[in-house]
Amino acid sequence: MGNSLSRHFSERAKLLRASEVRELLKLLNVPDMISFAGGFPNPETFPGELVRQIADQILKTDAAQTLQYGITEGYGPLREVIADRMNKKRMMHVSKDNVVIVSGSQQVIDLVGKVFIDPGDVVVISAPTYLTALTGFAIYDPKFETVPLDADNMRLDVFEERMKVLSKRASPPELVYVLPNFHNPAGVTMPEKNRKRLLDLASDYDFVILEDDPYCELRYVGEHVRPIKSFDDEGRVIYMSTFSKVLSPGLRVGWAVADPEVLSKMIIAKQSADVCTNVLAQRIAHEYVAQGFIEPQIEKIKRIYSKKLKIMLSGLDEFMPNGVKWERPQGGMFLWATLPNELDSGDLLKSALKKRVAFVTGKAFYPDPKDGRCNMRLNFTHPADDMITEGLRRLGSVVNQEIVSKWDQSRNTDEQKLEAAMKGGLIGKS
Ligand SMILES: Cc1ncc(COP(=O)(O)O)c(C=O)c1O
Repeated sequence: MGNSLSRHFSERAKLLRASEVRELLKLLNVPDMISFAGGFPNPETFPGELVRQIADQILKTDAAQTLQYGITEGYGPLREVIADRMNKKRMMHVSKDNVVIVSGSQQVIDLVGKVFIDPGDVVVISAPTYLTALTGFAIYDPKFETVPLDADNMRLDVFEERMKVLSKRASPPELVYVLPNFHNPAGVTMPEKNRKRLLDLASDYDFVILEDDPYCELRYVGEHVRPIKSFDDEGRVIYMSTFSKVLSPGLRVGWAVADPEVLSKMIIAKQSADVCTNVLAQRIAHEYVAQGFIEPQIEKIKRIYSKKLKIMLSGLDEFMPNGVKWERPQGGMFLWATLPNELDSGDLLKSALKKRVAFVTGKAFYPDPKDGRCNMRLNFTHPADDMITEGLRRLGSVVNQEIVSKWDQSRNTDEQKLEAAMKGGLIGKS
């Protein structure tokens, strides 16, 4: 006991950092806590009874295959229905051979890291970006280059300027990671013309795009925008998506779409990671799509979440003081808010937790923790409708208090300065 093994840890283990969000997820279980923190789907949307019936049917008819190891690339019929959906719904031109099933789309980030990133390689990401991509890539020790976001997602003007400089270096960027739909955490969506432009740049500068698209189907307003992958004639895009947001995250079934050359390397990497994705879960996902349950389910989820988003937007309007700003996302699960410059979302979180309301601080989503000081990510899909309003009432009052206390502090400092100046005779008393 007490004999720490940390001295035996690998250099890589030193790159493994606990995620602030994962820590925060534990708060979901504290009584009275209203959490805008996690990225959790609402359990009200989970088709529990249907999944039970499907599992029953699968096990009654084919327990032998279902309880056996599966092949690493995934259950064939599931790969087929996914390829079909990618073509019909996301305007791609792919077949089963372009699809690999993974244990949650998070696994794609790890596999892409293994296959493409050598230590010191440049990976371009937006700032902010999806937290678990940051930690997932970090294991492979890349150098991150960041590009800011605006209402149109990644700032392509900045990206292009950066590429002009970086492409002249000995090791130019090889991988660009983007979240074009309802960005996590920023909520913003990339217009079609920017998607095409990014692909042209990939061709000009010879880099690979990893397109992360878990929220594609969760659009509440506006028109669907085609994925970058759907314009990809050169096989430069690795596309990833998931059943987590349209069926259940607990099943851990996601997929990657890419050219067979890339997939075959990813499959070898996956073999040593987990041999294959859970076969029962894959077969449930297959029946769920093949028997036509997915479309009505997506419609149901969109109805529930778009209502929650409306409640959140009107709660923010009602309870947030002047000076707090936020984007109005067209879909997805998150809203990104910016506090007045004098506030720090880390300090705010401490006060918020005392009032039993949680969010994720902006800095979690940047490779440089000095960034994102004034930001917070708010999830609107998990809390019950009335809890969204109550949570925002609590959060609004905490933000108000912080503003007042900063104002008091700066007034006190001004008064102290004035007093010191008077004592020092710097200011006349006449
Ligand atoms: C942007 C993004 N990518 C990937 C994932 C991973 O999803 P999963 O592994 O459940 O498919 C998530 C989950 O929240 C996400 O928000």
